[in-house]
Amino acid sequence: MRPNDIIETKKEGGKLKADEIDFLINGYTNGDIPDYQLSAWAMAVYFQGMDKEETAMLTKTMAESGETIDLSKIKGTKVDKHSTGGVGDTTTLILAPLVAACGAPVAKMSGRGLGHTGGTIDKLEAIPGFKTSLSTEKFINSVNQIGAAVAGQTGNLAPADKKLYALRDVTATVDSIPLIASSIMSKKIASGADGIVLDVKTGDGAFMKTYDGALELAETMVEIGEEVGRDVIAVVSDMNQPLGKAVGNSLEVKEAIDTLKGEGPEDLTNLCITLAAQMLQLSNVVETKEEAINKATTALNNGAALNKLKEMIANQGGNSEVVDDYQLLPQGENKLEIKAQQSGYVQKIKAKDVGLSAMLLGAGRATKEDEIDLAVGIELTKKVGDEVTAGSTLATLIYDSEEDLEEAKDKLNSAYQIGKEAPEENPLIYDVVK
Ligand code: URA
Ligand code: CA
Repeated sequence: MRPNDIIETKKEGGKLKADEIDFLINGYTNGDIPDYQLSAWAMAVYFQGMDKEETAMLTKTMAESGETIDLSKIKGTKVDKHSTGGVGDTTTLILAPLVAACGAPVAKMSGRGLGHTGGTIDKLEAIPGFKTSLSTEKFINSVNQIGAAVAGQTGNLAPADKKLYALRDVTATVDSIPLIASSIMSKKIASGADGIVLDVKTGDGAFMKTYDGALELAETMVEIGEEVGRDVIAVVSDMNQPLGKAVGNSLEVKEAIDTLKGEGPEDLTNLCITLAAQMLQLSNVVETKEEAINKATTALNNGAALNKLKEMIANQGGNSEVVDDYQLLPQGENKLEIKAQQSGYVQKIKAKDVGLSAMLLGAGRATKEDEIDLAVGIELTKKVGDEVTAGSTLATLIYDSEEDLEEAKDKLNSAYQIGKEAPEENPLIYDVVK
């Protein structure tokens, strides 16, 4: 077999066979096939696409390229949840304890933030003492004992994807639906959950800017699940503004705790209830959608989910008093308010620019090696649809260093679009694909 022939087949719009995909991906992972051939292949896939079967084969090959986690020692149907990358998306911190409090085991592997999007592992590290690096044994025992654990991905999960994603990132081949779908699903499959709920974002801050693109990505990932024998549900949700009001690590921990106290922003709360209900259904701890929604809502309202978070924090070495005392979180030193320059209604808050603004303050990483400041970020006072008057506060920057403050301020200013008329409301949840 020769790489050129495989590239040629895809270039002409042909269908690749399982042994060709294995040969190419495994050869690339172990260094036998060079970057330039995989780049050419990825570009051919970008233009020609891959069908359902090819996409599932690619996913399987990447999932099996490294360690695969065996969760069979955990009792019950394990559910995982993954978001395709939002801004201010604090859902995992809420869902893990919420779903566990409702009786479904949550074994969740999460990542760190990069660019304009944040990562759950960074957020959890804002909680004093919280350990995100767990041995597989500790991870499994935690889920059996308290129902939930959230840990960083181990080094060798889907190494083929790691290498290919880095290559796609510098060859303009990230935004290909089969490549995104196989990339995400390979890691989820290798992480071992029986059921997976995907939150596919659409809008300015998302990989898929358009609804049609997001829907196709959602459908492709659900199909991969069918092909490889995992239950997958995909929710398509709005990212035409950041989720909730807080963007930044400590700030989002606080927002998650507020939500678990029943005092969170409406959009974040509603999305969490929707996602939790899907997870509960996949986990077979409820019979109907209505029962799932009731169960999740009750656990939020009666403090059960908040107590589960406390347990989860203590179990992973953190100080659970943080739930009652936000001063225990890292605190930014300075505040700067961004004022509206005209009166009217907020039409849109470009999520990507808000994420970039937070990154400039130090809440996120421009490159993988950057250090982050857990204390800083942005608090949005006004959200889409809110009426504003000139001079009133739109948002507040919380910062430590003035280094990129001006640029962060400009980014946040330009993120807010204000117009005369009240905008039409976007739905928060567009679709559920299963
Ligand atoms: N997230 C991933 O893990 N992979 C992609 O290709 C895009 C988003
Ligand atoms: Ca938020």
